Amino acid sequence: MLLASGLSVSLGRRPVLSDVAFEAQPGQITAIVGPNGSGKTTLLRMLTGDLAGQGAISLDGDTPATMAPRALAQRRAVLPQATAVGFPFTLREIVRMGHEAGHAAHRPGIVDEAVAEVGLSRKIDGFFHDMSGGEQARGHLARVRAQVWEPMRDGRPSWLFVDEPVAALDIGHQLQVMTLLRRFADAGGGVVAVMHDLNLTAMHADRMVLMDGGRIVAAGRPTEVMTDPLLSSAYRCRLCVNTAPPKGIWLLPQAAALA
Ligand SMILES: Nc1ncnc2c1ncn2[C@@H]1O[C@H](COP(=O)(O)OP(=O)(O)O)[C@@H](O)[C@H]1O
Ligand SMILES: [Mg+2]
Repeated sequence: MLLASGLSVSLGRRPVLSDVAFEAQPGQITAIVGPNGSGKTTLLRMLTGDLAGQGAISLDGDTPATMAPRALAQRRAVLPQATAVGFPFTLREIVRMGHEAGHAAHRPGIVDEAVAEVGLSRKIDGFFHDMSGGEQARGHLARVRAQVWEPMRDGRPSWLFVDEPVAALDIGHQLQVMTLLRRFADAGGGVVAVMHDLNLTAMHADRMVLMDGGRIVAAGRPTEVMTDPLLSSAYRCRLCVNTAPPKGIWLLPQAAALA
């Protein structure tokens, strides 16, 4: 289980997170949502041990920030919001780098499987920089999947932390990625995902955490967080949540400015 409390951090002398408490269970997709600048990426970076600040974080009993880099890389993989590749690597090489960060022994089949999982097998030996933005995003996801290939390892869950994993993707590939994350969680792994698409989130996440102004303003099941007042207040626009058969809820954007 991922458990954090009292998380606070200032960047450029400005408080960005204020006393945030957060939890996520393995076997679930926990989505972090909220408007631009609300602190989602900052929270994710603290949870993964990549950004130091105040507070306590326990990842299945260990503190990410003090774990040995190799042990941390074997336990959790991180898909940042943006990743630049400055050298002419092929997709296979990029995914292999992820795999080797998380596994002592290189198992070549896993690189092929991770690439197949994101539907890029025919591009595997092409140059990464020749791929479209959406293909590169899926390529990076294959890289982090290959890093923590087993959702459960030595009796402990592996974790995927993904920052806007579907932002660059068409609707079909959005669903493909959400299905990939769901499979990882169903097999015992933990998933923490920063998301913007509230409908996709409501459909796929087990828990939603809504941020606003560096604080968590609501957390719970999608039906608990996806309410007109909570969303309208956080996103500063008038939003109307509806239910749609056969199950689930959906959002109808109504107006740009909060009345
Ligand atoms: N390195 C930084 N220096 C100063 N301010 C930063 C830095 N990184 C982020 N911020 C600020 O912190 C706030 C939260 O940023 P971020 O966590 O990236 O938001 P989100 O991911 O929710 O859009 C923003 O106002 C942003 O401008
Ligand atoms: Mg962000």
